[in-house]
Amino acid sequence: MECYIISTDFFIIPLLSAVWIMLPAYLPNPVAAVSGGGTPVDFRRNFTNGRRVFGDGKTWRGLVIGILAGVAIGIIQMWAAGAYGLGFLPHLTFPAVCLLATGALLGDIVKSFFKRRFNRERGAKWPVADQYDLVAGAFLLLLVFDSGWLFGEVTLPAFFFILILTPILHRAVNIIGFAIKVKEVPW
Ligand code: CTP
Ligand code: MG
Repeated sequence: MECYIISTDFFIIPLLSAVWIMLPAYLPNPVAAVSGGGTPVDFRRNFTNGRRVFGDGKTWRGLVIGILAGVAIGIIQMWAAGAYGLGFLPHLTFPAVCLLATGALLGDIVKSFFKRRFNRERGAKWPVADQYDLVAGAFLLLLVFDSGWLFGEVTLPAFFFILILTPILHRAVNIIGFAIKVKEVPW
């Protein structure tokens, strides 16, 4: 019984909380990959090293539709929490959901900026940065604009699971994206 309580409190709840918190941050990337195209965010401009500011992999359509998708799933989660009594999960709020979704894709764009500065082509592999850009972006925005929510709702064990889960899900989703020809490379 004691063991059961420990495993629920220290494993299952933080694991579910990690997924719950991150859904609005995880969804924008795959949605951007499916919906992206058209005008690039940098309007095809170059930066000082003669390379693109962000590159053709960052488009306005992907950015806007991706963020809207993240906010939409967050709103559905907020509704579901009330409808199904999911009070044991972190309490999502509209500002937090917006910051998670926006931060995820801003982190992705900032990563591409540095990728281009280090002369890496669009789609080139950049380990660690490729996996954690969305976590860094989402949590930085939360820290700056809603630190009360961040420290009130994201427990240390949940954050630990976010760090473990993110690269695993990132890899899995990208392999699927490559297999169904949404992504050009499996990373
Ligand atoms: N995408 C988009 N707009 C965004 C983010 C992504 O249109 N803001 C689309 C692009 O078609 C992109 C695909 O999603 O090619 C996959 O995203 P990602 O792997 O982040 O981009 P890469 O093409 O790998 O470019 P980079 O090297 O800059 O990361
Ligand atoms: Mg990429």
